[in-house]
Amino acid sequence: MLRCATNRKHILTIDSVDFPKHTHTIQSISNDVERYWGKEVTLSGWIDKKPKKISKNIAFATLRDFEGNFTQIVTTDPEFASKLRSSQVEDCVSIKGIIENRPSRNETDGIRWDLKIQDYTLLNSSDILASQLESLKSSPNSFPQQHRYLQLRLPFFQNALKSRAKASQIIRDNLNSLSFTEVETPLLFKSTPEGAREFLVPTRKESSFYALPQSPQQYKQLLMASGVKNYFQIAKCFRDEDLRADRQPEFTQVDLEMSFANAQDVQKIVESSVKKVWKEVGTEEIVTINKKGDIVNGDFIHLSYNEVLSRYGIDKPDLRSTVEIQDLSDFAKAIEDDKFPVFEVCVLKNAFEQNSKPKLPKSLFDSNEYRNRKPIIVPIKAESDINDWYTKMSSIANIHDLEGLQQKLNLQVGDIIAGSTRSRLTYENPTPLGRFRQLSISEFPDKWKRSNNKFIGAWIEEFPLFNPSEESTSVKTQYPIYDYEKLESTHHPFTMVNPEDYEFLETDPLKAKGEHYDLVLNGVELGGGSRRVHDVEIQRYIFTEILKISKPDELFGHLLKALSLGCPPHAGFAIGFDRLCAMLIESPSIRDVIAFPKTQNGVDPVVESPSDVSNEVLEQYHISKLK
Ligand code: AMO
Repeated sequence: MLRCATNRKHILTIDSVDFPKHTHTIQSISNDVERYWGKEVTLSGWIDKKPKKISKNIAFATLRDFEGNFTQIVTTDPEFASKLRSSQVEDCVSIKGIIENRPSRNETDGIRWDLKIQDYTLLNSSDILASQLESLKSSPNSFPQQHRYLQLRLPFFQNALKSRAKASQIIRDNLNSLSFTEVETPLLFKSTPEGAREFLVPTRKESSFYALPQSPQQYKQLLMASGVKNYFQIAKCFRDEDLRADRQPEFTQVDLEMSFANAQDVQKIVESSVKKVWKEVGTEEIVTINKKGDIVNGDFIHLSYNEVLSRYGIDKPDLRSTVEIQDLSDFAKAIEDDKFPVFEVCVLKNAFEQNSKPKLPKSLFDSNEYRNRKPIIVPIKAESDINDWYTKMSSIANIHDLEGLQQKLNLQVGDIIAGSTRSRLTYENPTPLGRFRQLSISEFPDKWKRSNNKFIGAWIEEFPLFNPSEESTSVKTQYPIYDYEKLESTHHPFTMVNPEDYEFLETDPLKAKGEHYDLVLNGVELGGGSRRVHDVEIQRYIFTEILKISKPDELFGHLLKALSLGCPPHAGFAIGFDRLCAMLIESPSIRDVIAFPKTQNGVDPVVESPSDVSNEVLEQYHISKLK
């Protein structure tokens, strides 16, 4: 006997080593069940459920096979009944049996047949823990994370992993058919400032580190210099940043780059790949809107950064909602005119029932939900509120055309109005009203829907190329404080300036727009890309004169050299593949589509990493622990 659960020793046989192979799957039988009545088959899988008490005469349990489908196994044989009695949920079994019709329970559980046991082999036992976790099967996300493998056995997660695999296959096939070459790039990269904090990898050479790539950005540009016409890779990326439902420290991108190509060429490829995935794996296709806001089935709408910031208050608007922000600067003058000259409102029409005691969602009014400034929010509960809501806004704006304003808004009892101010070219993203709109959409999921379409996509473009860095303050300030002397790239420093803004690089870099584009689906940034700087002089100028990088050759010499040696114009994109898969299966968290995700604290609870290492090991890397 090799090993076994102590109290069930007698069940294990040599069959668990030289095991009987399945002859069918549950699905293959269910597809054509009449053909199988009375036939003998062997199925493999796990005991999914078993009754608390199993009688001596008739015993049954639910078998889940490795495709995640269910059937019932039954027996009247005392030997098999005894085996079922001592079985544990999640025991791995092979069952030989006869297919029997099961008309009486057809309607209730969808299982149309039983497998009458002829032979029962325990392939591997599971311990009591699996039974303790059984009740969690109906809410798979509450499984303890260290038992991810038990959670992954559940149909929801099996489907998530399969959908992910299908999506990557479709994208790969599509790109291959469009003459893209899949190229792997190194994971042991170099520390370079590209945006997020990196993971460093020490080496046994003193003061010598690799960094894990935040993305293959620089290597893919080097591939363009290497004569690869169209590149792609399903690439692992690493960023040491604060984690949320849509962020992991280790994640996957569908990364691509095209030489002799511009933004439109790249967008066409990305849009076709994403639409193909939704068509073949999703529950419905992605639609978009036209300029009037009507749903259309054509190419995704292109919206500028300024337009989406003013209409939706964010650079990744959820276009499923018709709620829009209105600029009221023609009717009112903002009090802090020098800083925030735009006075704007967002009205939620018929948010609550008239003449009732309205129950309003707390989150809208909770300042902790807003990063800096919370808008002034007035629920219109009575006629009197229609006449004097604006007095509550007097701390932010002086209204000079009240009649015009009231006429434009046409408020009714039951509406909620929120007001705020912002700068004209705002770096605050979302703006206070953008955040209010986001919260409103999630609090009122069934209201102000443009249509019943589940997925609405758009391209967002014309982002500012640079933004002033935000000063970090330990206390929460009324609004972000910017250092206009210290500029940052809005995306990454390799983004090309819009040709018509070229002069601004020298005269006023903050006015320059970049050739960057984001793909946004339902308020989620699914991916981003740009045309790149391929001219070494422009790239050097951006590094030294605008971003004030003192020794660009030490950090980016490889790229600068490659650009100076006839690198063609090029553009590219990266799809956040985890986000794509999560959206595809309509899951709110990318952890659902990652086999072994990290927790909020960056921990892998299954293998318990990161972990401590001994001083002896550290010494080899010239590292000592801080005392
Ligand atoms: P960017 O930084 O915008 O661009 O990343 C592209 C997409 O990757 C996804 N993403 C993430 N997904 C999960 N966890 C994370 N921590 C995470 N960070 C980003 C998002 C995002 O839109 N090199 C450029 C692309 C290019 O210019 O070609 C880049 O990485 O969906």
